[in-house]
Amino acid sequence: MPSYDLSGQVAIVTGGGSGIGRAVARRFAREGCQVAVADLDGERAARVAAEITDAGGAALALTVDVTRQADADRMVAETVARFGQLNIQFNNAGIARVAPLLETDEATWDAIMNVNAKGVLFCAQAAARQMITQGSGGRIINNASAAGKIAPGRIALGAYSASKHAVVGLTRQMAHEWAQHGILVNCVCPGIVDTPMWDVIDREVAQREGAPIGSVKARVVATIPIGRIEQPEDVANMVAFLASADASYVMGQAVDVSGGRIPY
Ligand SMILES: NC(=O)c1ccc[n+]([C@@H]2O[C@H](COP(=O)([O-])OP(=O)(O)OC[C@H]3O[C@@H](n4cnc5c(N)ncnc54)[C@H](O)[C@@H]3O)[C@@H](O)[C@H]2O)c1
Repeated sequence: MPSYDLSGQVAIVTGGGSGIGRAVARRFAREGCQVAVADLDGERAARVAAEITDAGGAALALTVDVTRQADADRMVAETVARFGQLNIQFNNAGIARVAPLLETDEATWDAIMNVNAKGVLFCAQAAARQMITQGSGGRIINNASAAGKIAPGRIALGAYSASKHAVVGLTRQMAHEWAQHGILVNCVCPGIVDTPMWDVIDREVAQREGAPIGSVKARVVATIPIGRIEQPEDVANMVAFLASADASYVMGQAVDVSGGRIPY
């Protein structure tokens, strides 16, 4: 596994209590970062922070709802109060709901857009303000999705897909507005990742289709050219690269990490 030296840096991971966020928080810690693990579910955040400290790293658990601007600001303030600065932020918290567009009501749309799009904006704003105050740049990496570039098609994730297209758009504009401050903003676009989120998608689609639990996931995984489901650590590899000195000339990109499921 490639290794990037991030020692002495401070990172925040939202949605850090599960899945991809957990893998990225652990990876940042292994690369030498002090890590704030932020999650709506404070117990999950505490468990991941404990995993990091048990392994000899430094971590802080924060209970944060990314849809609330005051929470985003507090997340950054508490991280800086504990670790002295903020250098890297991974805006990862997200939710998915399966609903064909004709059945997507206002509550579903608002819930998805609030967490996946508004949450990314508020958290990135809070991070950028801190990084601008510090005056030495930083890295902001957003978690979009392959669904931020293409339609999920048979999997009825229309509102989710719209929210992830929004993350790609926000990433490009953030990169342009904040490059002058040395803040590099990029996003990652994972494919089918083996996390609790995909278990929910599988169950909801299977129920709608009257198919066995697990069959939807198996069907989709069979379309991945690399030939296996993506692991959270596969995403963490790319996020670690984008946080590293080796990515110092990369900005505004929506980087595919889908094992070849989509071509760009
Ligand atoms: N699993 C996949 O196949 C896949 C693919 C592409 C992109 N993604 C994206 O990756 C990100 C992480 O997904 P995952 O698969 O690890 O999911 P997950 O469900 O395992 O973890 C998501 C975490 O986000 C937290 N969260 C939810 N709402 C929040 C809020 N309002 N404030 C703070 N935290 C909140 C949850 O408590 C949970 O711990 C999401 O943005 C998701 O859209 C996932």
